[in-house]
Amino acid sequence: MTDFLGTPATAPGPLGPRMLRHTTMIRRDPLAFLTLMRDTYGDVVQFPIPRPPTYLVASAEATHQVLVGRPGCYDKETIQYRSLALVTGDGLLVAPDRRWRDQRPVVQPAFHHAFLPVVGRIVADEVGALVDRWRLAGPGAVVDVESAMMEVTLRVVGRSLFGDPLTGSTAKLAEATLDALSVVIQRSRVPVAFPRSWPTPANRRLGRALRELDEAVARLAAQGGPGDGLLLDLLLAQPGWSDEQIRNQVVTFLVAGHETAASALMWALWLIAGDEAEGDALADDPGRARWVADETLRLYPPAWVISRSATGPDDIAGHAVPAGALVITSPYLVQRDSRYWSDPEVFAPDRFAARLSRRQREAFIPFGAGLRQCIGRDFARWEMAEVVAGLGAAFRFSRVGPPPRPLASVTLRPADGLLLRIDPRR
Ligand code: HEM
Repeated sequence: MTDFLGTPATAPGPLGPRMLRHTTMIRRDPLAFLTLMRDTYGDVVQFPIPRPPTYLVASAEATHQVLVGRPGCYDKETIQYRSLALVTGDGLLVAPDRRWRDQRPVVQPAFHHAFLPVVGRIVADEVGALVDRWRLAGPGAVVDVESAMMEVTLRVVGRSLFGDPLTGSTAKLAEATLDALSVVIQRSRVPVAFPRSWPTPANRRLGRALRELDEAVARLAAQGGPGDGLLLDLLLAQPGWSDEQIRNQVVTFLVAGHETAASALMWALWLIAGDEAEGDALADDPGRARWVADETLRLYPPAWVISRSATGPDDIAGHAVPAGALVITSPYLVQRDSRYWSDPEVFAPDRFAARLSRRQREAFIPFGAGLRQCIGRDFARWEMAEVVAGLGAAFRFSRVGPPPRPLASVTLRPADGLLLRIDPRR
């Protein structure tokens, strides 16, 4: 196989000129691009990028090897996480394993199972308020599902982790986070970004958003911990932690726990709106909400790629992967792969009624896998099920307008927001 500027090719993949022809597709529809690469070249694809050598891994087995396989073989020092670190600093989500190890035990107690019913009550409360608001809109109203889900999930994360619904002055926290993220995602898309110190419009926007973030976190911390053993209490009680370390974790949890859940919920409601029988079944049996949530996460995983850097040489499905390589895995690809799922493009919540086979469990990774799996997994699944059950019992949803175009950005979300028609069920 060919060399890419001195880096040997160890797996099939598009050569330079062909890759250039894909540039528009990579920018406009990265999901279609990843699918095309897998379909054309197989389960391990190498891109014509020399530094670092870059691979896509597409089978569930190989993905499992990277995320779970041998801990210590792969780490998080990738462009995806370095870009995110501009916003979150060295928080739990982006920290390399060696610094992550000390952080996770500090925050883990806030995610103990005993807290889930508390989260459930907060979600039920927020959903109740939303149902009341939407009822006032009257039968047949078209509602802005995007803004409603962004608000509910922000309030849930805020109340559950910080004892503050993050409205009023702290609302800026969410706005500034989203603003900073949008700049950061643009930076990670271009091969060479201007240094942070250059006063480009994007850098100035990022600088402004980060200043607002810092001020909002400082305000939150100054209010003190809510005193119920919530995340903020744990962070503030940590001996020797600097203001910056606390700030980094607060921002991390906002980044990780807000837009992810909101995006997934938008897709869940859109899917129900397109399946009247499922909508009716859900209204009769709220227990189905868990399956709807999981099936939504299968079809539209908010974390559509998960990247790792190889800390040493590895062999993936017979292909040598050198130390320092960037390895991209994709929940979106494996979760829509017909080798693991029958009719993978079809929305069928009943797949989750029975226990998944071992192979399917490996091919269902919306929250990642292995040591760095999402700390908020049970929180998010509980939250999603509660929102879907509550709204599904109160309203019949129907689609209006064309199907939303999935935008694969920080999360996988509808590109132009989401409007749905609602009719009260009773
Ligand atoms: C549907 C919603 C969510 C999805 C799809 C999701 C997805 C993920 C994924 C895929 C990872 C692993 C990333 C990797 O291995 O590189 C992750 C990590 C993480 N998530 Fe979530 N997440 C969700 C909700 C939440 C919530 C609600 C919280 C907090 C309240 C949260 C906090 C975190 C944190 C802190 C990490 C880093 C964990 C660590 O490295 O120890 N996530 N999430």
